[in-house]
Amino acid sequence: MLELKSLKKSYHQGSQTIEIFENLNFHVGEGQRVAIMGKSGSGKSTLLSLISGIIKPDDGDISLNSVSYKDLQESELNDFRAMNIGFIFQNFHLVSYLNALENVMLPAKVCNISKPREKAIKLLESVGLGHRMEHLPSQLSGGEKQRVAIARALIHNPKIILADEPSGNLDDETGNAVMDILFELIKKNNTTLILVTHSKDVANRCEKTYELLQGSLTQC
Ligand SMILES: Nc1ncnc2c1ncn2[C@@H]1O[C@H](COP(=O)(O)OP(=O)(O)OP(=O)(O)O)[C@@H](O)[C@H]1O
Ligand SMILES: [Mg+2]
Repeated sequence: MLELKSLKKSYHQGSQTIEIFENLNFHVGEGQRVAIMGKSGSGKSTLLSLISGIIKPDDGDISLNSVSYKDLQESELNDFRAMNIGFIFQNFHLVSYLNALENVMLPAKVCNISKPREKAIKLLESVGLGHRMEHLPSQLSGGEKQRVAIARALIHNPKIILADEPSGNLDDETGNAVMDILFELIKKNNTTLILVTHSKDVANRCEKTYELLQGSLTQC
């Protein structure tokens, strides 16, 4: 369902060229859960940004559910991303002036999904935050913020979730509890998951683990 073909991506910083991918090919099947590991700076977040369409490759193409990003105009790609992709970031990226419930409702509103409030309440309850719906992000603990981020990533039933070190900021016990919730919810919906992590334990929850090294993904 996700196909990366001959991807090339470099960054340019002054006179310096930082080559991240020269010729990356990668495939992820529907409903698969895939972990990506690799050293800091190897390009894991860049890979997720390319898959999301937030940044563009220098060459090559990405397709999700047989839709090639190359065939989409900028606004079409933005809509496509909003409808099909859910994100979970390491630093949560919650909107600071919206409460937990409003944060979770955001993607549903963008995608014009019916009954966003009911869905958001149900999801917040399923991540154990039925009693924190009116809290602002600044009034939530790290694990609670991450659970809000998980609920927000799932509300519009995306085809694929991209998660960048989702438990990186949490203690082991809280991180494990948050991962239990994430994996339970995505299994229920058969959502494809691409999970960047530095933790072998978290990676072991996925069906396949790849290491990103010098621009190549190798299955571990
Ligand atoms: N916008 C940018 N401009 C220039 N260089 C960049 C840019 N974004 C990332 N880089 C560089 O590209 C490399 C890969 O960055 P990336 O964030 O993808 O790494 P990562 O594998 O996610 O690392 P980490 O595990 O530390 O999060 C890094 O060396 C980084 O400095
Ligand atoms: Mg990163």
